[in-house]
Amino acid sequence: MKTFLYIGLLTASIHQTKAQNNTAEGKSIFEHKCQRCHGSDGTKGLFGAKNLQLSRLENTELILVISKGRRGMPRWEKRLSQTEIESVATYIKSLRK
Ligand code: HEC
Repeated sequence: MKTFLYIGLLTASIHQTKAQNNTAEGKSIFEHKCQRCHGSDGTKGLFGAKNLQLSRLENTELILVISKGRRGMPRWEKRLSQTEIESVATYIKSLRK
């Protein structure tokens, strides 16, 4: 019985570490690739970049815009992996007010 409890706790903590890594990864990608146009808080608006705090795009649309680009927004599908795009999409949603 104790063993089961232990395995349960272990699995839970692994999941948590993974989620934290994704957030940290998303933040780091944002700082390196997106911040110069969007600003650290998402509001800079360089070259007409959308205010990410006001963005209300659904996850699928977010992934699409980041992957394929749109007007002044560069496409990232060749420079970021699918997982990286998902991490950065999750991160920018955390900038919303
Ligand atoms: C060269 C400047 C530039 C960089 C770098 C850049 N963006 Fe953009 N982004 C833009 C512009 C300009 C738009 C507005 C596009 C439009 O008007 O259709 C935009 C729009 C967006 C949108 C759409 C928001 C909405 O609600 O319509 C998202 C999401 C986004 N960017 C995310 C990112 C992410 C994530 C990165 C980094 C991987 C990034 N951007 C890097 C310029 C940039």
